[in-house]
Amino acid sequence: APRVISDKASMRSWSRSMRAQGKLIGLVPTMGFLHAGHLSLVAQARQLSDVVAVSIYVNPGQFAPTEDLSTYPSDFDGDVKKLASVPGGVDVVFHPRNLYDYGKNGGGDVAEAGGMVSCVESGSGHESWVRVEKLELGLCGKSRPVFFRGVATVVTKLFNIVEPDVAVFGKKDYQQWRLIQRMVRDLDFSIKVIGAEITRDNDGLAMSSRNVHLSPEEREKALSINKSLLRAKSAAGDGQVHCEKLTNLVIQSVTDAGGRIDYAEIVDQNNLEKVEQIKSPVVFCVAAWFGKVRLIDNMEINLS
Ligand code: PAJ
Repeated sequence: APRVISDKASMRSWSRSMRAQGKLIGLVPTMGFLHAGHLSLVAQARQLSDVVAVSIYVNPGQFAPTEDLSTYPSDFDGDVKKLASVPGGVDVVFHPRNLYDYGKNGGGDVAEAGGMVSCVESGSGHESWVRVEKLELGLCGKSRPVFFRGVATVVTKLFNIVEPDVAVFGKKDYQQWRLIQRMVRDLDFSIKVIGAEITRDNDGLAMSSRNVHLSPEEREKALSINKSLLRAKSAAGDGQVHCEKLTNLVIQSVTDAGGRIDYAEIVDQNNLEKVEQIKSPVVFCVAAWFGKVRLIDNMEINLS
């Protein structure tokens, strides 16, 4: 079974002792309630490094007060069992209680900073945030304005605490993956960032910790996202390169199924800027609500 570490100092000293032994350290950041998608990231980290740490931390910094922090699912013991079953195993599970608790050095009330409010406790004294100024704006950033600031900040904290050589992220959260890559480049982190393919259930639904909140009916309706993305991809392969036509197809079929579209956009794979016509590699990104659950999915389209 993996060793569970919950304080920053022990995490860093484990990491430093591994580094001193010449071992390459892999990190997979997660918010827990693990599924096969997370485990595929762990398997990749296992292949790319000598020792693997998985962090499990539901980061209040990336949730707005109106979002689902309080209902985010968790099952820590189940997660540890799943990690123990990954071939090759996991060396450490980093499970901090509160990454924004600075003890006696805390104080001050800056949970609201720069006009942005997140669920970091007021009074923690936390006032430093990492912003990836353009990539954070579009797609999920529009309806979740504090989200990427919180992600970039907590990932920076995890990188500084764990000091990994390799970190694996899922393409399920395409914008998050690109944003972390950009941050690592721009801020000269000495970390290789890997993007892992999306893991889907047999029916095509992209795995997500939030899927447990879907009723069976909502889940059935939610399949419209992946199904229509596949149809859009094949239409593009057949020569339909007008993005508006393709996005309308997805908007129509998700709406017909009873979903509420947040966005459906075809963007450049690297800078995530909106594209009118498919000429270079693009990714078709979708977010939609089914009942109280907001789901995201995407599909890369590479026309040769
Ligand atoms: P979480 O949603 O738990 O996801 C952890 C990692 O697993 C992310 O890199 C995500 O893209 C990946 N992942 C989730 N579902 C996947 C799937 N079906 N296929 C492949 N990869 C999948 O993303 C976060 O946590 C947080 O924002 C975090 C990066 C940990 C920062 O708090």
